[in-house]
Amino acid sequence: MKDLLQKIEDRSLHVGVVGLGYVGLPVAVAFAEAGFHVTGLDVDSEKVARILSGESYIGDIGSSKVAAAVQSGRLTASDDNDVLAEMDAVIVCVPTPLSKTKDPDMTYVLAAADQIAAHFHPGMLIVMESTTYPGTTEEVLLPRLSDNGGTVGEDFFLAYSPERIDPGNADYTLSNTPKIVGGYSAACGEVAAALYGTIVGDVHLVSECGAAEMVKLLENTFRAVNIALVNEVAIMCDRLGIDTWEVIEAAATKPFGFMPFFPGPGLGGHCIPVDPRYLTWKLRTLNYHARLVELASEINAAMPEHIVHMVSDALNDRQLSVKGARILVIGVAYKRDVDDIRESPALDIMRLLLARGAQVEYSDSHVPELTSGFEQPLKSVEGLPDVCRDYDCVVVCTDHSDIDWTGVTDSSSLLIDTRNVTRGRNDSHITRL
Ligand SMILES: NC(=O)c1ccc[n+]([C@@H]2O[C@H](COP(=O)([O-])OP(=O)(O)OC[C@H]3O[C@@H](n4cnc5c(N)ncnc54)[C@H](O)[C@@H]3O)[C@@H](O)[C@H]2O)c1
Repeated sequence: MKDLLQKIEDRSLHVGVVGLGYVGLPVAVAFAEAGFHVTGLDVDSEKVARILSGESYIGDIGSSKVAAAVQSGRLTASDDNDVLAEMDAVIVCVPTPLSKTKDPDMTYVLAAADQIAAHFHPGMLIVMESTTYPGTTEEVLLPRLSDNGGTVGEDFFLAYSPERIDPGNADYTLSNTPKIVGGYSAACGEVAAALYGTIVGDVHLVSECGAAEMVKLLENTFRAVNIALVNEVAIMCDRLGIDTWEVIEAAATKPFGFMPFFPGPGLGGHCIPVDPRYLTWKLRTLNYHARLVELASEINAAMPEHIVHMVSDALNDRQLSVKGARILVIGVAYKRDVDDIRESPALDIMRLLLARGAQVEYSDSHVPELTSGFEQPLKSVEGLPDVCRDYDCVVVCTDHSDIDWTGVTDSSSLLIDTRNVTRGRNDSHITRL
């Protein structure tokens, strides 16, 4: 352990990052900037080539940062697993998606664990950052690493540290968001905390890997449940004829005991719709049915269908049908200022409308084209907001406060604000636009 701590101190530690996506690339660049020699490993050779040529493909990391790290000789990338043999510390940032049956898909984690095990050597520190169910680090990673004969906490070190980055958030980045670390043993926690202390201002050590895994799931389940609550409140306000946003904004004046969440078209991204299902799956294996969390997933997953009903009702009020209607969906990334379309509810809305015979196009400056998931590739429509005049209905799936709608709201196009599900049905123009 002393050896590792010394290498962290004098920056001679060689850091490997497995998986160079939204999480892995910023982590790799941060360690390179902190003075370590970093090697990123990714199965995607195109990503490797782009990094080696100093190019970033992640919105939050500018190409200049990647280029500077590569030119300094502190960052390199490879698609060859053999590089793991040279690493003192390996940080795992591979995807943890859902299977078709909405259960954890551990394929990537298992592959990464096997890659590390095949190049295991004594003295290594292995940290799992991918979001996963409590128990993964000990139940999935540890047995594969221990097969090599070493004792964890003595011959090698194992920890879990959840990634908390919020893509597109300029205020809170990797360096000023406290980092949770849980080690398999006290020694494992100490080494991992020392490593992260070089890139993050505040490291919060918990007693075990499982606690650190659960922290991440609590944070994201908290969001999923509160979003489900406010989505249901919006549907209730619709029935009651009350303006949801007025209610939320008024409730938010309470200086304690209330935190505002806002309704929308459903959940998107790789985290909030996915992570609670990792938790409920694990609990099902322990004969516990996490009812509240599962119900929240159900309510959020039903929101795209609710929006399609809003569109259908609004068109119906004008004696128009969804079939044949020209519909523009604005904002297909799962949130504003990012290009990530994973699990985006806007795509579900588009598919549901297409299935009902609408002619659907989309506009999103961060997503120039949609190459898969539809019968034929789609290109983002330009010319917002004026182009809205060309459609029977415009479905806004993003925060649109920076769009000047003057001149469009007096057109005959229907504008549906999916964040304001209360007002969709009866107003000819949606008042929050
Ligand atoms: N995106 C976020 O905002 C965010 C935030 C916090 C946590 N997370 C979690 O972090 C993890 C990674 O998410 P992401 O958004 O960076 O995913 P991503 O898909 O952007 O990146 C993962 C990368 O891993 C690579 N990869 C897959 N299998 C590999 C293997 N066996 N060896 C080497 N490389 C491999 C892929 O090619 C890809 O480049 C997930 O568990 C996610 O839930 C994501």
